[in-house]
Amino acid sequence: MRTALITGVTGQDGSYLAELLLAKGYQVHGVVRRASTFNRGRIDHLRADPATRDRFFLHYGDLGDPESLTSVVDAVRPQEVYNLAAQSHVGISFTMPTYTGDVTAIGTVRLLEAVRRKVPEARLYQASSSELFGKAEETPQNERTPFHPRSPYAVAKLYSFWAAVNFREAYGMFAANGILFNHESPRRGENFVTRKITRAVAEITRGQRERVTLGNLEARRDWGYAGDFVDAMWRILAAEKPDDFVIGTGETHSVRELCEAAFAEVGIELEWEGGGGAEVGRERGAGTVRVAVDPKYYRPAEVDELQADAAKARRVLGWTPTVAFPELVRMMVRSDLAEVKRP
Ligand code: NAP
Ligand code: GDD
Repeated sequence: MRTALITGVTGQDGSYLAELLLAKGYQVHGVVRRASTFNRGRIDHLRADPATRDRFFLHYGDLGDPESLTSVVDAVRPQEVYNLAAQSHVGISFTMPTYTGDVTAIGTVRLLEAVRRKVPEARLYQASSSELFGKAEETPQNERTPFHPRSPYAVAKLYSFWAAVNFREAYGMFAANGILFNHESPRRGENFVTRKITRAVAEITRGQRERVTLGNLEARRDWGYAGDFVDAMWRILAAEKPDDFVIGTGETHSVRELCEAAFAEVGIELEWEGGGGAEVGRERGAGTVRVAVDPKYYRPAEVDELQADAAKARRVLGWTPTVAFPELVRMMVRSDLAEVKRP
């Protein structure tokens, strides 16, 4: 039985990855932070299911605390380590740049060091991000596209990217980066734009609110399905040699298109009016404002367009996405509709 350790197991990706590895017969250990309220909703089913509960273990630890990381790595002695933990919100990283740097950048080195000291033969996956491309010099972006980070989050992820490469080159460790483009799901945090919109669509449909207020409608992202992307993480660690891979669908859409697609799922067609911070999207026919813009959601520096060229992952790992944008939006809206009851 292979043993894997996942940091960030309570997050969107951590929960899908734990499911995938357990389905493959792994013993899975996750690092959880102490919180005053339980935040394990995404993994509770794995702790309850008789098919998985005996192979799924949680340990307290924090990327800010090197001793806890060393202890858990030493106790578990994993063959595979997936470093998914991070302060992962780009917008919030502008408000908390120092904290973001401590967790999302230095936290990676704390974990790399724990692995180097205790289980140097383990394979380590580092959750790198398409945010590294930032003000991208070319579209689509691949492994040779230069990096130009545009936020404290992206700067921290850049540090972690190179830390993983450095441990590979300096110590011969199997440390690999997945440069993942945006990936979403019904388990996405509610303050990322996809879930913010699909949740609002469900609440509007159920008569609980009237509109959703957003920031930049023009930003374009390559949105894929998280379930597909955790499979890529596993393939990256199963590869012959440690390497870095771009993972994304190759399709790009704007936030505006995302709004249109999500509202269309409940039969609402949007008509846009005005521009910039005064723009609104009205429901055709009724005239009710369903989307408003508030500049408070604009970021001090924006990433305008991301689109993946994942040819290397296709060639070397045999990875291809299975869920396209319309299906992803439908899945998320339907899931939120099922969760949000009529008042
Ligand atoms: P997420 O839902 O925000 O989950 C983040 C996880 O990190 C949570 O389990 C969180 O624990 C944990 N965490 C945060 N700070 C920690 C700390 N100091 N010590 C230990 N654990 C900590 O993120 P995600 O969407 O699953 O993304 C997973 C990783 O991939 C992140 O590193 C993210 O930056 C990166 N990434 C994500 C995407 C994407 O589109 N989703 C794309 C590229 C890269 P709590 O539950 O206790 O908060
Ligand atoms: N969150 C949010 N909220 N974003 C908004 C809003 C809003 O109200 N209105 C417009 N946006 C725009 C943001 O300005 C950004 O251009 C785009 O929607 C996507 O924002 P997020 O969903 O917050 O994701 P992100 O692209 O910044 O970051 C996500 O993907 C990265 C990979 O490219 C996160 O998951 C990162 O952790 C990840 O590395």
